[in-house]
Amino acid sequence: MQADDHRVLIVGCGNIAGGFDAARNADAEPLTHAGAFVREPGFRLVACVDPDEDRRSAFQRRWKVEEAFADVASLGDRTGAFDVISICSPTGMHGGHLEAALALRPRLVFCEKPVTPSLAETRHWVERFEQAGIHLAVNHTRRWAPDVARLRVELQSGKWGSVRSAHGTYGKGVLNNGSHLIDLLQFLLGPLRLVGAGAPLWDFWETDPTVPALLAAGEVPVQLAVSNARDYSLFEAHLVTERGVISMEDGGLAWRIRHPVPSPHFSGYTGLDRGVDLPGEYRQAMRSAAINIRECLRTGAPLHSTGRTAADAQRLCEQISAAAAQSVSGNR
Ligand SMILES: NC(=O)c1ccc[n+]([C@@H]2O[C@H](COP(=O)([O-])OP(=O)(O)OC[C@H]3O[C@@H](n4cnc5c(N)ncnc54)[C@H](O)[C@@H]3O)[C@@H](O)[C@H]2O)c1
Repeated sequence: MQADDHRVLIVGCGNIAGGFDAARNADAEPLTHAGAFVREPGFRLVACVDPDEDRRSAFQRRWKVEEAFADVASLGDRTGAFDVISICSPTGMHGGHLEAALALRPRLVFCEKPVTPSLAETRHWVERFEQAGIHLAVNHTRRWAPDVARLRVELQSGKWGSVRSAHGTYGKGVLNNGSHLIDLLQFLLGPLRLVGAGAPLWDFWETDPTVPALLAAGEVPVQLAVSNARDYSLFEAHLVTERGVISMEDGGLAWRIRHPVPSPHFSGYTGLDRGVDLPGEYRQAMRSAAINIRECLRTGAPLHSTGRTAADAQRLCEQISAAAAQSVSGNR
């Protein structure tokens, strides 16, 4: 530990705060905020907040956090006491916790997604943070996965030729999970616009249905297909390009790349080979997020995922939900 380590406060001590890493080996790549800050040099976990006493004390012990509090009000006047504040509480509480974080004057807030349940509220906080000169990073995790970042460069450099179309599958809510897919596709392909949405499927959240949609990135058609979260988790994206098909599977834990080959069955036709399976680098994303945060604080390096990029994804989520609701009422 160094005197100039960035002091971190974590609000909400559940799964994404540290729970997913609680039983994982110290040398495993971290999947959580605490796991990443503990493994990367330059950070010190100085405080955590959770009203659930068991969770709070287990978290404090597991991650050796210096102080623990039942709520943000109990932090008292600790203005300037934290460099980084992670907001890992339930989404409905993010607004209140962003307000409390602003008053504490950190240099950076690392907020879980969705930033808030509504685009209007998210935009409000994005603007408040910009006015206050406090960085706002949002955990759209795949922006920090090294293989996703490389793919973006490859697409931009023309290595894959033209992108013909993209399609992805998600479940468990257009805002809660669809936002990850939309954000990923906007990161890779540029801004998306909504063409149309299908019927909503209420597979998990009462207020956030899973909705199929047709979008476009410039001239490139982009389809969002749905799975049902009650069956299993499915999160995939496929890019159909001039020079092959790039498939992200298992949420980014695996990739499959297929290249064009002469068809062994139909003379004169070109098909795709069976492809190569590659391990994904999703597991490196949280560590890479911590590195990006450290570089942002030390050198002013840009954050890969911000309040602005998250609001851009949330805008489409709301448009898709609204279009789905309209199609349902139109069918009555
Ligand atoms: N980026 C991702 O891929 C990803 C993955 C999982 C969750 N999330 C997001 O992270 C957030 C938390 O999800 P989770 O799965 O860790 O939930 P969780 O239920 O496991 O953890 C939430 C924690 O917040 C605590 N809490 C409740 N009220 C609080 C308050 N007033 N102050 C402080 N803490 C409070 C709860 O006691 C609980 O320990 C949500 O916004 C969710 O959408 C993102």
